[in-house]
Amino acid sequence: MSFDLVLFGGTGDLAWRKLMPALFQAFRHGTLPDGGRILCVARDNLSDAQYRALIQSRFDAVELAKRPSPEEFERFAALLHYLRMDLSQAADYERLATVLRERGAESVVMYVATAPSLFTTVCEQIAAVGLNGPSTRVVLEKPLGHDLASNRAINATLSRVLREEQVFRIDHYLGKPSVQNLFALRFGNALFEPLWRRETIANIQITIAEELGVESRGAFYDQTGALRDMVQNHALQLLCAIGMEPPINATADAIRDEKLKVLQSLRPWTPETIAQQVVRGRYAAGSVHGHSVPGYLQEKGVATDSQTETFVALRTEICNWRWAGVPFYIRTGKRLAGRDAHIAIHFRPVPHPIFKTHGSTANRLVIHLQPKDGLELHLLAQGAAQHQTEPALSPVHLNLDFDQRFGTERVGAYERLLLDVIAGRLNLFVRSDEQEEAWRWVEPILQAWRNDPAGPRPYAAGSWGPGAASAMIARDGHCWSEEL
Ligand code: BG6
Repeated sequence: MSFDLVLFGGTGDLAWRKLMPALFQAFRHGTLPDGGRILCVARDNLSDAQYRALIQSRFDAVELAKRPSPEEFERFAALLHYLRMDLSQAADYERLATVLRERGAESVVMYVATAPSLFTTVCEQIAAVGLNGPSTRVVLEKPLGHDLASNRAINATLSRVLREEQVFRIDHYLGKPSVQNLFALRFGNALFEPLWRRETIANIQITIAEELGVESRGAFYDQTGALRDMVQNHALQLLCAIGMEPPINATADAIRDEKLKVLQSLRPWTPETIAQQVVRGRYAAGSVHGHSVPGYLQEKGVATDSQTETFVALRTEICNWRWAGVPFYIRTGKRLAGRDAHIAIHFRPVPHPIFKTHGSTANRLVIHLQPKDGLELHLLAQGAAQHQTEPALSPVHLNLDFDQRFGTERVGAYERLLLDVIAGRLNLFVRSDEQEEAWRWVEPILQAWRNDPAGPRPYAAGSWGPGAASAMIARDGHCWSEEL
């Protein structure tokens, strides 16, 4: 199938860091369909050769195993072309249309990896020159808006110029192999589904912890914060994958319908629940793995009087028959003690304990997303203690390491998602109503914080966040996985 992939923002950070390496991996794996052209668009005045040389130099920063050899790069570079465009100029879209029509590829993917402020302009201009026909797919990165109203406005513009099935809203967490395995665990295996409910599960914890700070994105991040950057999208998508009903089939709309129902069932916020069940934090100076790091307010691009949060922990519930009363905790933050994304399903303890145990009698299933990718099932067994007169059970765990099982050369998130866009598969992309519902749910928190002079709670870089996050979960009689 011939395709043109137009990469708006072709010299930008996302193109360098994620998209080019992902396209190269697909090329190396032989999964990029033949007959493709990658047309990179930016303002700089570059020839194809100059653009290719730039990309080649950027590959030096990629880890060795994923770096092309000179011969590989030469073959890959033959796909790369460059078009200078000023995205505010209508005439430049005419030139783009001419370039695309000359070739007449079967599908055209427009990847809008620009500043979010340009998203709607690009889509409107594409339509104005008639490039919005059925063979066109538009990929949009987050953030799509900064609140419900702005998200709705963007979606309204999109729906005027494109059909919903032409719009691919990326949440790169959905492309992670571990997240696809979560769907496989739930809907490809019969074992856990009967247990996946309020009668057997005591609470569910979703943690996305990062060691990194805001790096070079201080100015962007300061306008965004952890709630918009991580909770509204990545964490809620994980919550949907855990909480949704089995879809009737594996088609995009069947999956997205079920995710939407989860978002619609989230307990609405009140001023009281926001005050008691949402903790916002901001890292202060500290040390991560023995290296001293500055606090958030000292980061480049951050306002000195910033009220932006770098950490959020919250408690919610899915108000339906399956989940009524089961707390779902979400926790995410920057400059935490480790890079660790996992979902911990805490089962209820045995109803009538007859054995002595060291610690809790509750079983736990931990779904590791990163850095390790796998499953751990925590059980109790009689091990070393069996010689004692009154033996006690000790915790043991079954460990399934997907990297070991399938190798670390698996398809990465952006590679998976790019291949899906080219093939027109929408399963792993977010529909407009899902996205709006997620914004609708976080909106009261954003509003409450705007009016709360207290601001975020400090936590030392390299810790697990403010103590208030542990206190919040302790009020329910639970604790975070690492405190067990
Ligand atoms: C992005 C956020 O969407 O996800 C970043 O904007 C964050 O702030 C990143 O660091 C985390 O992604 P990953 O794949 O490294 O967990």
